[in-house]
Amino acid sequence: MAEGKKSMFQSVKGIFLGAYKRYRSCFKCLTFAWGCAQMWTPISLTFLIYWLVYRPDQFHPHTESAVLAVLDLTNNASAIQYDLAVDLSVRNSHRLPIRYLDVAASVFYNGTRLGPTDDPLHGFVQKPKNITVLHPAFHGVVNVDSDVVAQLQRERAEGTVHLRVTVSLTVMYKVWSVKDVFFYKYDCWLWFTTPHNGKPTHFHGNGTVCWRV
Ligand SMILES: *[C@@H]1O[C@H](CO)[C@@H](O)[C@H](O)[C@H]1NC(C)=O
Ligand SMILES: *[C@@H]1O[C@H](CO)[C@@H](O)[C@H](O)[C@H]1NC(C)=O
Ligand SMILES: *[C@@H]1O[C@H](CO)[C@@H](O)[C@H](O)[C@H]1NC(C)=O
Ligand SMILES: *[C@@H]1O[C@H](CO)[C@@H](O)[C@H](O)[C@H]1NC(C)=O
Repeated sequence: MAEGKKSMFQSVKGIFLGAYKRYRSCFKCLTFAWGCAQMWTPISLTFLIYWLVYRPDQFHPHTESAVLAVLDLTNNASAIQYDLAVDLSVRNSHRLPIRYLDVAASVFYNGTRLGPTDDPLHGFVQKPKNITVLHPAFHGVVNVDSDVVAQLQRERAEGTVHLRVTVSLTVMYKVWSVKDVFFYKYDCWLWFTTPHNGKPTHFHGNGTVCWRV
């Protein structure tokens, strides 16, 4: 009876010890795998985890509204004069802050870049569950080629002009002391009835999505 108890105790101890050893070696091998992944894969494991937590594929800026004061040819008909102001919103739907290290925007007409924002947009830290509205403004004169001139003349005559605003975001996610940096680029499409003689026209975006490119 005493012998039986003793051997049973031994075998239970054996099972626990075995499990513990296996757990330890498994833990070691996981640590090793993590180290390898960190060192050798171009896309690090932290990058992947942050991607899964923050789901950048589901993150989009939205166009709330825009005002086009001028989009016209200059007197010599070889340059475009433009004056545009946009309200763009970005939402942090997560429970962690997002650091926007760098924010930039440009405006394009028919594939031609008209220019960057008048004032550089600044980086900022966005609190969890918060919405930030950015106000990029564009204003200037730029020489364009004859195809673009012809396209603007056509669109103005038809009564609707189309513009594309590109938004570039460099974003840092930080959990405890681990950080990873992501870069996103978006196209925001805007259309307006043709502005005449400095009379502004409006785009009621109401949260139109900007598409990731
Ligand atoms: C056309 O006019 C704009 C501004 O009025 C000027 O910047 C541009 O150099 C002119 N282009 C030509 C080809 O004269
Ligand atoms: C510019 O407009 C023309 C005429 O509509 C169009 O065929 C062309 O694809 C446009 N280019 C770009 C880059 O959007
Ligand atoms: C976002 O944060 C600002 C500043 O703390 C706060 O005033 C605002 O109400 C917040 N907005 C939302 C939608 O939570
Ligand atoms: C946005 O809202 C305004 C005012 O509520 C409305 O007049 C307009 O048609 C809406 N625009 C779009 C694109 O839904």
